[in-house]
Amino acid sequence: MQLKQLEAFQAVAQSQSFSAAAKTTKLSQPTLSRLIKQLESEIGAELIDRYHRPLQLTEAGAFFYEKTKLLLADLDTLTAMTARMANPPKTLSIGFVPSVLYGLLPDVIAWLKQKTPSLEIQLKDIPSYQQFEALKLGNIDVGFGRFAQQDPWIRQILLRHERYVVALPYQHPLASCSDLRLSQLSDNRLILYHQTHLDHIPANGISEPLLNMFARHGATPFSTTAVSDLQVALGLVAAGEGITLVPDSLKTLRSEQIHYQRLIHEDATSPIYLNTLAETSHPALAILLESIYQIYEHKGFTYRRTGE
Ligand code: BEZ
Repeated sequence: MQLKQLEAFQAVAQSQSFSAAAKTTKLSQPTLSRLIKQLESEIGAELIDRYHRPLQLTEAGAFFYEKTKLLLADLDTLTAMTARMANPPKTLSIGFVPSVLYGLLPDVIAWLKQKTPSLEIQLKDIPSYQQFEALKLGNIDVGFGRFAQQDPWIRQILLRHERYVVALPYQHPLASCSDLRLSQLSDNRLILYHQTHLDHIPANGISEPLLNMFARHGATPFSTTAVSDLQVALGLVAAGEGITLVPDSLKTLRSEQIHYQRLIHEDATSPIYLNTLAETSHPALAILLESIYQIYEHKGFTYRRTGE
């Protein structure tokens, strides 16, 4: 079986047309047809139902399409990783979610620059759910994110759990109550800002973190509104449109309009992960991790060292 046969099949399956696939692959239609026929005869199964327009995949073809798509994506990742292994990058590209920028990221960068003045650092604002792809493509070397996800190419190092605080408009009746319980918040509209990129509830186990946390404590918000990001969520809280929960390091944002109140639950936390490739990592990873741990020691934070 040859790579070009798989690529020809992918192109025809994706566009459901030999003529469209001929344009994207820059191969002639007879060549595409020959490559796919060879593939079908090697497998011993028809993959494309040629009698329908647009073309359709047979059941075996649909199965083979999904599996080879993953295989070819893995091959792209492997090629990019091997190229980087042979030519180690001179800069360290760091992807980050905005919420860590309001926390310790500036301290981490300052510490790292002091320890390794010759290292060039690039910072890229990338949502947690896009960091894995950016790592595989070589667009970043490490990422700081807040979601746990499973991917055989990626290593996630859990750095610490950060407590959530409740963001309430100043005039809210609960603004004067300390150590709130999630059940006390049930009468409010909860503003969600985490997974607004997803247009359906994912089947892969990720669920909206704030709703998940409410559910774990037997509470349900009266209603919810989803917005595009955390800054918008805090803007709506300031306008009296609802409440939200944010990691503790954000409690200085809009502090003239928003009151931040502690939650009593010790497990109402948001994790911070350092994401990196599983097999090959940037030479500066060890010193980056050490810088983070030293800052945690310095600030007296509770954290978890890798391997412990
Ligand atoms: C932290 O807040 O723990 C953190 C933020 C950015 C990078 C590393 C750690």
